[in-house]
Amino acid sequence: MIKVSPSILSADFGNLERDICGLAAAGADYVHVDIMDGHFVPNLSMGFPVVNALRRITDMTLDVHLMIDRPIRYVERFCQAGANILTIHVEADTEENTLEALRKIQACGVKPAICVKPKTPAEAVLPYLDLCDLILVMTVEPGFGGQSFMQDMMPKVQKIRQYINERKPDCELEVDGGVNAATAKICVEAGANVLVAGSAYFKAADHAQFVRELKANG
Ligand code: DX5
Ligand code: ZN
Repeated sequence: MIKVSPSILSADFGNLERDICGLAAAGADYVHVDIMDGHFVPNLSMGFPVVNALRRITDMTLDVHLMIDRPIRYVERFCQAGANILTIHVEADTEENTLEALRKIQACGVKPAICVKPKTPAEAVLPYLDLCDLILVMTVEPGFGGQSFMQDMMPKVQKIRQYINERKPDCELEVDGGVNAATAKICVEAGANVLVAGSAYFKAADHAQFVRELKANG
């Protein structure tokens, strides 16, 4: 089954509660929350108070994507704030610290996940796969919504799908960046089962129809 995880980076922050309630009504599965620190990516977004507020507004799965340096420093606080899936980047720290951060997330009862930027090869997920409930493949350079989909990431999605099928069949495979009805189909064909969509979701005139279109690709 294909799942849709709208990224609230493109939501109306003046009407966040309205937009969040709209996600469940539209049939979305997760709420994708992009956390940026101005170091790992050249942009700032939101932090603990927003995750906390989201937790009070909705029972939906909070799919929190940390684009921050050395996430081990903060993973427990994001778990306490209400994340259900917590994703950290392989590029953000040493292998030892990344493993330790994933274990900390798991110990909090939250699903650990790992993310790879476009220039990072598929093999980079291998040391972490056994610990992860989700692998996230970036289909744009992280940092901003509204960028163009990088179709050349599809061989990487296929390769990671193969690793997952061989070693951790329950692990989900998510793509993030430039996903719309057309590119979603390409991602699903390559093996993704969770689709993040920010600008395309929030720009759609009919959100429920948009979610249906994305899911129809599965
Ligand atoms: C980018 C973020 C994405 C972003 C996706 O760094 O990780 O989640 O919000 O936005 P779209 O779907 O507009 O590319
Ligand atoms: Zn994201």
